[in-house]
Amino acid sequence: MPCFCGMVPSLAGRFKPVMLPYEMYEYQRNNRFFAQIQNDMGKLGMEELSGQGAEDISPAYGGIYFSSDQAVLYRTNYTSRYITRILAPLISFKCHSTRYLYNKAKEINWTDIFAADNSFAIFSTVSNSRIKHSLYATLRLKDAIVDWFNEHFKKRPDIERIDPDVWINLHIENNRAVISLDTSLGSLHRRGYRARTVKAPMQETLAAAIISLAAWDGSKPIYDPMCGSGTLLSEALMFYCRIPSGFLRQRFGFEFLPDFEYDLWNSIKRDADQEIRGVTKGLISGSDISSEVVEAARTNINKLPNGEKIGLRVMDYKKIQQLEDTIIVCNPPSGVRLERDKDLSKLYGELGDFLKQRCKGSTAYIYFGDRELIPKIGLKPSWKRPLKNGGLDGRLAKFEIY
Ligand SMILES: C[S@@+](CC[C@H](N)C(=O)[O-])C[C@H]1O[C@@H](n2cnc3c(N)ncnc32)[C@H](O)[C@@H]1O
Repeated sequence: MPCFCGMVPSLAGRFKPVMLPYEMYEYQRNNRFFAQIQNDMGKLGMEELSGQGAEDISPAYGGIYFSSDQAVLYRTNYTSRYITRILAPLISFKCHSTRYLYNKAKEINWTDIFAADNSFAIFSTVSNSRIKHSLYATLRLKDAIVDWFNEHFKKRPDIERIDPDVWINLHIENNRAVISLDTSLGSLHRRGYRARTVKAPMQETLAAAIISLAAWDGSKPIYDPMCGSGTLLSEALMFYCRIPSGFLRQRFGFEFLPDFEYDLWNSIKRDADQEIRGVTKGLISGSDISSEVVEAARTNINKLPNGEKIGLRVMDYKKIQQLEDTIIVCNPPSGVRLERDKDLSKLYGELGDFLKQRCKGSTAYIYFGDRELIPKIGLKPSWKRPLKNGGLDGRLAKFEIY
């Protein structure tokens, strides 16, 4: 194994000397990473990356390429509200067959990344290439890694599909393969506060995007009258109190990068945690008709710092007498995943009446899991934005109520 001291180009033309007791991987040569993000959140993700100090930010299908040093990489993983995961490319190569994939993968010195007693998993995507099946590509990459460990150590790492120590990502597009380390260690939407789930919860990254698009700055109260498990309220709390999105996550994949800097990571985490601030009672609150989901929301929100400051109650929103001068966020049942046979037209019509009659001076941001439901509310939206929730082609609509 070669051992050399390299000069690694860093940001803004600066160079920092780094001891490299291993081969240089692709991300080390060019400081380039790929942030996976839902396409409709790309702009938010780019602004977030730029705010963290990333450079050469360029959008692509399903994500954003960017250049950064390790500090920006760690901080973005720890605080990003919209990015799904960040990949650090190890090697990339022209690839027309799974045999070649197997051989190239065996050129990696895998102990630079993890040990035989770590577990690992592989996520693959294949498009427009001679290799057609991502499952088979995954299996061949898995074989290469396992065989490499067996040949060098007579010991192999275990596969763990749910909660591995290390996620390896394989992307093959136009016959070019990229093998990357997932520096996030699984999707960043898993903040760690969802101890209890309910039917049709909203994805955390989507809820964060809604809070951002609502441009809520804490000068008015925010209220979710159909709060379910409290995802929108949790993301409002995290945003307002500056709680890093990864506050409850125990581990990150970047800890397995060969040039991981433990002290740097600790200082980034400490600095971000010091930014956390309090919130006054009543600024963030919500309710739901189901006592079971309100209980779930309470369990989830209480896992976060200041969670006890969020007001929660069991209530049919139609019984709320007034919700004036408030930012209202909510995600009513869409019927796509639940309550199919209920009369959704009636439900949305009544919600529209409620907004018109009892929410004067408020602005409502309603997330429709099914865009066909937007006209049923009987109010003219100021704007509509496409935003997916999992596989659902939903829309966020803004309504100003006078
Ligand atoms: C799609 S879910 C909301 C999911 C939520 N955003 C989350 O992340 O868990 C819709 C919620 O509306 C609630 N709901 C339906 N009708 C209601 C009503 N009349 N008053 C209050 N809540 C209601 C349901 O109990 C359900 O929890």
